[in-house]
Amino acid sequence: MGFPAIRYLEWTKTLGGCRINLCPSSIDKISLSSLSLDLSGLEISGPNQYGYAPLIEALASRYGVQPENVVTTQGSAQALFLACAALLDPGDRVLVERPTYEPLLAVPAALGAEVSRFERRFEEGYRVDLETFQQGKKGQTRLILLTNLHNPSGALLSREELQALVRSAESQGAFLLVDEVYLDFLAGPEKRGIFSLGENIIVISSLTKAYGLGGLRCGWMLAPPALAKTVWRIIDHMHVEGVFLGEQVALQCLTRLESIRSRFSGRIASNLSLLKDLIRTEGCLSWIEPKGGVIGFPRVEADFDGNRLAEILKERYATCVVPGRFFESPQHFRIGFGGDPKEFQQGISFLRQAIDDLSS
Ligand SMILES: Cc1ncc(COP(=O)(O)O)c(C=O)c1O
Repeated sequence: MGFPAIRYLEWTKTLGGCRINLCPSSIDKISLSSLSLDLSGLEISGPNQYGYAPLIEALASRYGVQPENVVTTQGSAQALFLACAALLDPGDRVLVERPTYEPLLAVPAALGAEVSRFERRFEEGYRVDLETFQQGKKGQTRLILLTNLHNPSGALLSREELQALVRSAESQGAFLLVDEVYLDFLAGPEKRGIFSLGENIIVISSLTKAYGLGGLRCGWMLAPPALAKTVWRIIDHMHVEGVFLGEQVALQCLTRLESIRSRFSGRIASNLSLLKDLIRTEGCLSWIEPKGGVIGFPRVEADFDGNRLAEILKERYATCVVPGRFFESPQHFRIGFGGDPKEFQQGISFLRQAIDDLSS
């Protein structure tokens, strides 16, 4: 088994020379002091052998599932790894969306799975192409992986599309894992996830993206109870107990999520409207407008591509966006709009200048 580099993560973790950073896919990190938590009764150690029961119960009630369906993890990144470790043997076939967030490809590959792809095309609004989704004979595919909202585009799958995916995964005899880490950006009924729609469904998520609480590492997996049990057994191979202090803080944070959402909704809306204006007025840019979240994935149609634009933007204006190559889409770049509005405005005007530089 080999663990090759995850190039996007290496790039983003070591990114320097960037005065304005439009790469992040979450809202700004929330400070501890701004949350008004009651820290006085917290303890370092406590009963959390197979998760901290009050946190598991709170997550279960949030989703309307049983505590036996919930495994708490170190972020959704660890939940992805654990789900793959629980389900995959070397040689198993895994289907992954294209384009996608690189770990969805890298983790099953590192565990020895054979990775095939299904398409989500820009020209089709990044909906899932069911023909490429429905691959192989029953029993050939063990696991199917996708994101909703989609990273990189922010596209949202409709209820009908989700139902069709569940039916197709069932007919293939495959587990379907949906990374819903961006779905919490939505507030209305469209936020309802996929878990209740079928049997062999796994959902992973966390408090990182919509709530700026990535440092807490509060993630989770929803899974059928038997699979959840297997995952807890794998966790026994990794550590004996979780970080109790973090779990207690996470539990308090769960009661503050709506207030965090309302604190940031104004800035997200105003940044998005600047970004829409950029796309409307720069003839070389087009996009599928994100249905939520704080990332967009514009396409560049010019003598230069999204990679080149990202390069010039960084070199000349110390402003960073994610080059499309990290999402197998060199024509594109990914831009985050969850940050400080003044910086975002400055970043947008640098983007305009970089486009001008490359066009002249
Ligand atoms: C689709 C997706 N899943 C998971 C993660 C990791 O998030 P977490 O902090 O929950 O581990 C990211 C981070 O960029 C992501 O984009």
